[in-house]
Amino acid sequence: MTEPWWKSAVIYQIYPRSFADSDGDGIGDLPGLASRLGHLGPDGLGIDAIWLSPIYRSSNHDFGYDVSDFCDVDPTFGTLSDFDELTAEAGRLGMKVVLDFVPNHTSIEHAWFQESRTGPDSPRRNWYFWRPSGPEGAFPNNWGSTFGGPAWQHDPDGDELYLASFTPEQADVNWRDPGLREAMLGCMAFWLDRGVWGFRLDVVDRIAKDPGLADNPIAEGREALVGVMPWLAQAHVNDQNHPDLPALLAEIRRMADSHCSDPLLLGETFPDADDHVRLYYGTPDAPGLHLAFNFNRSLCDIPWNAKAFRNTISRAEDVLPEAAWPCWVMSNHDRARHATRFDANGTAPHRPKAAATILLTLRGTPVLYYGEEIGMRDVRIPEDRQLDPVGNAFPGLGRDPERTPMRWEPGAGVGFTTGEPWLPDGGDVPGLDVATQAADPDSTLSHYRNLISLRRARKSLRLGSFTFLDAADGVLAYVREHEGERTGIAVNMGDGVAPAPEFLTGGEVLLGNPAGEPGLLEPDGFAVVSLDRDG
Ligand code: NOJ
Ligand code: MG
Repeated sequence: MTEPWWKSAVIYQIYPRSFADSDGDGIGDLPGLASRLGHLGPDGLGIDAIWLSPIYRSSNHDFGYDVSDFCDVDPTFGTLSDFDELTAEAGRLGMKVVLDFVPNHTSIEHAWFQESRTGPDSPRRNWYFWRPSGPEGAFPNNWGSTFGGPAWQHDPDGDELYLASFTPEQADVNWRDPGLREAMLGCMAFWLDRGVWGFRLDVVDRIAKDPGLADNPIAEGREALVGVMPWLAQAHVNDQNHPDLPALLAEIRRMADSHCSDPLLLGETFPDADDHVRLYYGTPDAPGLHLAFNFNRSLCDIPWNAKAFRNTISRAEDVLPEAAWPCWVMSNHDRARHATRFDANGTAPHRPKAAATILLTLRGTPVLYYGEEIGMRDVRIPEDRQLDPVGNAFPGLGRDPERTPMRWEPGAGVGFTTGEPWLPDGGDVPGLDVATQAADPDSTLSHYRNLISLRRARKSLRLGSFTFLDAADGVLAYVREHEGERTGIAVNMGDGVAPAPEFLTGGEVLLGNPAGEPGLLEPDGFAVVSLDRDG
């Protein structure tokens, strides 16, 4: 039986506004992106699939995650025919295109919402959550917006409130309505029919809500947050990870299977409890998602520490249903970049390579975030250039710093744009660009290329089992094994020189930066070792 492609793939997330700008408006676009695919293809990084953060028409209150038309490209990015050229070019380079899809909400500028808001008689009224306000303006329930405040918004043109779990411009849709379901599935099918290989599904764990929209209980110990930030105060039993989720995911899966020979459905999921993970994958009879991020057991939330990594990796593996395949990510458009998170002061130049060594050798599908392959760090955004609504609501917590322009070349504009970039590019930083690093065999970029080509060459790294090795304090070590091929990995996450596990001695070092003596790992040093019987 052949394995599905996504199981051994390396997926690369692109934030299209920040990848490459072809027309000088300072915003990345599809022709720009297409012109830079060489960086990702077989003569570059060698990744298998790109995931594009939303490119649909958007009212841009949440930069693409507020979709105003799911079946068209936002003019800032180009046209449908630019998109077709992009997928064709990606295909020529052996790469698949996966789109972000936003099933939980639409922009209030979407024609569906515009129609729905015309009144209770609208055929699309029930596609959204409209409720009258209670006595003295009370909200229909206690749900909160993830971006702060209550999750209910007044319609300035009507009497009722609508549910909006993120910005007020993102109205939640009602997946219990058959018409809405059909429309959403139709939009996904539109893209699969156009040659897309699947979707990353935005906050897909929210699409099933309690039918009565009952209040959430307050989470233990969070009482003090009730008046400050209701979302954070609550246990999300009625607005997230609802028991009815699997049936909806199975419906999405049936649609995907009927429009694509080998689709990928990758969920953005936040299991509140470990047993929520089961909800995502479904059963053999009614399969759901293929992959699901576990953002409660995630490498995005832990410090650079071998024990913390070991705990998180074990927990994420332990809670996976049998036969489910893990999926790993260290950075994305919502989190501080890991080069910054793992090394706040910028004093550990080799850490991005050590982090990559882990990310690309764990059991599971790795998802890279654009720029991490050159060690991009968060960029400080002056207050007057801050754009993210989260940063506007919670100063200091905005997501602009991790969304800044891709750094292609040295010098002004960093090869991203000839115009003024929509977010600051961080200015001149020697060595922090693709062109410079591509020419340097010791660069972070070269290390990523080497790791990815090693994955291609070694089935144990792609598909093998995973076993931790006992190791010195500060060292994370494990073995991957598949059909007799074994690969050992050790990364020194501690502050001092540490011995590599004895188990690895005698093997052939395939990749490493043993700056010190053989068998000793410098801080941030690593070794990927062949332990083949004949190796
Ligand atoms: C999760 C996305 O990753 C984030 O960027 C967005 O703001 C929310 N979902 C709302 O769509
Ligand atoms: Mg542009």
